[in-house]
Amino acid sequence: MKSVQSFLDAIPMPAVFVDTQMRIVGANAGAWTLNPHAGDPRPFVLVFRQPSLGAALETCFASGTAQRAVFHHTDGPHEIWYEVTVSRVQGGEINGSLLCFNDTTHLKQADQMRRDFVANVSHELRTPLTAILGFIETLQGPARGDQKAQDRFLTTMAAEAGRMNRLVGDLLSLSRVEEEARVRPTRLVDLDQVIRSTLRNLAPVAEEVGGTLIYDAPDDPPQLIADSDQLFQVFTNLMENALKYGGEGTDVTIRIAKSPRDHVLRVPVLRISVADTGPGIAPTHIPRLTERFYRIESHRSREMGGTGLGLAIVKHILNRHRGRLAVESTVGVGSVFTVILPLR
Ligand SMILES: Nc1ncnc2c1ncn2[C@@H]1O[C@H](COP(=O)(O)OP(=O)(O)OP(=O)(O)O)[C@@H](O)[C@H]1O
Ligand SMILES: [Mg+2]
Repeated sequence: MKSVQSFLDAIPMPAVFVDTQMRIVGANAGAWTLNPHAGDPRPFVLVFRQPSLGAALETCFASGTAQRAVFHHTDGPHEIWYEVTVSRVQGGEINGSLLCFNDTTHLKQADQMRRDFVANVSHELRTPLTAILGFIETLQGPARGDQKAQDRFLTTMAAEAGRMNRLVGDLLSLSRVEEEARVRPTRLVDLDQVIRSTLRNLAPVAEEVGGTLIYDAPDDPPQLIADSDQLFQVFTNLMENALKYGGEGTDVTIRIAKSPRDHVLRVPVLRISVADTGPGIAPTHIPRLTERFYRIESHRSREMGGTGLGLAIVKHILNRHRGRLAVESTVGVGSVFTVILPLR
């Protein structure tokens, strides 16, 4: 059945052809990566052991109409989902059914992400909202006429409302960054000025937490094509984190260095590092830091007004600039967040 094989080879997804006895006639290379025995001339159900596939195949032969089934495959740490179409093929010397495996993993993941996102946002908004509603009830009832209690509750309510406001602000800026993701920045930006204005802006925060911002300014301040407002946001988020999580008395040092070639981006880059002398981050957390709403000590971070969106925004902005974020940390010593931007 040479002709069957050449058809199978032309199908741009894993495909297997079986005869009316449900024995495998042939498979293409994509199917072999799913199952090294995909092309063996054996009963299909003994090679692909997921019952849903065997059932769809039987129904297809019995009814003569195309069937669909879901096939789940694990490839090391990756879970892959296929929607399998089983179609009856008959004509000339060819008589059997064709199974085509369509990879739907990305759709499933996007769907899951959207659901997680809505659940997270709702949860984040509900916590302060519940607190505010509780205080309103108290103010209307037991605390009516108690000036001291009223002042205290109103202060807390203002803080909770502030948190909701920041969350909504962060969500809006995240969606704005995503919207512009494909538009490359075009302006020439003076990095030194951006960093200096970030430092000015964060001076009160540094004072509040008892930390020190140290800028190791370069002799020849570099310029690059970028979006200065977005870079301002990147450095604000990183320095604010360094101050907030570095703990009292932390030193936050900002340095700029040029590198002739980044080993990931493979181009000349600028590296802007924000280093703190805080408690550091355990290695298991590092790869997840840029996920939306990811917080290491969610309780502590929330107390500090954190929403867990800061680093997600940083990552999106750097993607738009074709750059990347590198995080190194030693527990008990401190963390270094490095912004890496292509020079050109
Ligand atoms: N310099 C740092 N040292 C230790 N932990 C850090 C540092 N920077 C970030 N983290 C951890 O990473 C988590 C995610 O940071 P991110 O900036 O995304 O969110 P956040 O600070 O909690 O909230 P937001 O920035 O939206 O107000 C923080 O909750 C914190 O646990
Ligand atoms: Mg933050």
